[in-house]
Amino acid sequence: MKVLLSLAAGLLLFLLLPAGLALADNGPHGGYTATTDACAGCHRAHTAPAARLLLDTVPDLCQSCHGSAGSGADTNVEDGLDTSVNRSLRGGGFVNVTMDADLTGLQVLPVTSNHEINGGSNTVWGYGSINATPDPGTANVALTCTNCHNPHGRAGAGGTATYRILKGSNAGNTPLFSNSSGTVTKSASVDIPDDPTKTYYTGANGDYFGDHGSNIGGVWINAALTAWCAQCHSRHKAENTEASPSNSGSTDSGDAVFSFRHATNIEDDLGCGMNGSCHNSSHGNFMPPYPACITCHIAHGTGVRMGAYSDNVPWPDGTTTPGADARSALLRLDNRGVCQDCHNK
Ligand code: HEC
Ligand code: HEC
Ligand code: HEC
Ligand code: HEC
Ligand code: HEC
Ligand code: HEC
Repeated sequence: MKVLLSLAAGLLLFLLLPAGLALADNGPHGGYTATTDACAGCHRAHTAPAARLLLDTVPDLCQSCHGSAGSGADTNVEDGLDTSVNRSLRGGGFVNVTMDADLTGLQVLPVTSNHEINGGSNTVWGYGSINATPDPGTANVALTCTNCHNPHGRAGAGGTATYRILKGSNAGNTPLFSNSSGTVTKSASVDIPDDPTKTYYTGANGDYFGDHGSNIGGVWINAALTAWCAQCHSRHKAENTEASPSNSGSTDSGDAVFSFRHATNIEDDLGCGMNGSCHNSSHGNFMPPYPACITCHIAHGTGVRMGAYSDNVPWPDGTTTPGADARSALLRLDNRGVCQDCHNK
């Protein structure tokens, strides 16, 4: 049922687009012609040094263009910079990030937490249904760039382009993840509409908290991404409804770990019956006051630092490593700056 709902939400995003709006992938990632040159950017027919006939393994293949030493793309995801304008990338960085982490000005910071890109054996925090038995998520999952992005583009329903070639509702996509024993596999179903004009950097250089992302055909991408992130981190997304938009912070979900959860934005029309300003009239159905995942988090990596309370918050499985600044959980401001920015206690 949930899958169906999110599928419907994904399709709806496309139906909401004005007819004739140009949709395009970018770089060597799709929009291929019958005689495209692009395949040779990543594949070799007879002499490939890596499996899947690839020029290199992922993420090194991607970094050969998107890394700090790569010149094949403007988006340097290692340093979190759009090198064509020398401004901070919306996704942050995997090694360094340029950001105003403590609201005193722009800094170049080493990354303290990021989504894993070197495979490894990770837990997909929060994946799974509400469970009265403690279940932190699915363990033993390798994670890299191609879990989230489809290098061939056209990753949405019917081969449509999606935002940032993020995997959507298309059976041609490899799954979002499988665990090493193959008992859990999750395929993508949420399509995020692509932006016809590509802007990869934040609205103000280094300002991550204040960045609202693109508006595409009335859909605010930052807000639409909440359902996309929740395909993997299912139980981090609160089950708010229009009727009770903020009940998740004071109503027990019944889950042994994710019992009470901060409200997040929802897909249906929020109406104006909530506490807070009637934001949705100007911002579209997906917009806060209810925060989106990436109101608080960055998709790739952050350089923010944690203090004495925030640096040892247990993970959903009860462990406390990694801790210290590495417990920064992809947040957009130092410590709990993201909370103060809205609540101003
Ligand atoms: C930007 C790099 C890149 C480009 C350009 C690229 N590929 Fe790929 N290709 C990959 C990667 C990475 C994988 C493995 C995907 C995965 O594991 O999810 C792959 C997998 C494949 C596969 C096997 C799995 C599948 O998705 O069917 C085929 C077939 C394929 N590519 C064909 C092509 C063809 C044909 C072209 C040109 C039209 C092309 N690729 C262009 C990176 C690329
Ligand atoms: C956990 C999922 C995930 C992984 C892993 C991931 N990305 Fe992304 N990526 C995203 C999302 C989501 C965005 C959109 C961010 C936004 O607009 O706020 C994005 C954006 C991008 C962009 C556009 C520039 C930007 O920063 O917004 C590029 C280029 C990119 N990713 C490349 C990569 C490469 C290369 C890797 C591996 C080294 C990778 N991604 C790993 C989810 C992921
Ligand atoms: C393909 C599944 C997948 C998707 C989609 C995904 N994540 Fe993750 N995420 C993971 C896995 C696996 C981990 C644990 C390993 C790691 O830290 O990268 C993780 C870790 C995290 C962490 C903790 C990182 C740390 O090291 O402190 C945060 C925060 C997070 N994800 C937020 C998000 C947000 C926000 C989005 C949407 C932009 C998102 N995730 C999309 C799989 C996913
Ligand atoms: C041969 C060079 C090359 C390789 C290899 C490559 N890319 Fe790209 N990629 C580009 C270029 C060029 C763009 C256009 C934007 C730019 O200049 O940064 C782009 C754009 C992107 C975007 C944004 C797409 C959009 O919708 O706007 C993502 C995400 C991305 N690449 C991810 C990846 C991932 C993941 C890999 C590895 C599987 C990869 N790239 C490998 C050259 C490359
Ligand atoms: C109001 C800010 C806020 C919003 C909105 C938010 N998060 Fe978080 N998230 C945090 C903080 C703070 C942490 C650090 C742990 C803690 O305090 O619970 C965190 C931690 C995480 C982690 C690491 C595991 C854990 O639970 O500690 C993941 C994964 C994660 N968030 C995913 C998401 C996803 C997916 C969404 C959207 C559905 C989301 N978050 C929305 C603030 C937020
Ligand atoms: C984008 C703005 C925004 C951010 C960022 C944000 N909040 Fe909220 N918070 C809200 C809204 C909106 C509500 C719901 C108010 C209502 O309708 O009752 C809320 C509700 C709450 C509640 C009351 C929950 C309940 O149901 O009783 C607490 C406690 C709270 N937030 C703490 C935090 C903390 C801690 C952080 C940082 C991790 C944070 N908030 C970040 C906007 C935000």
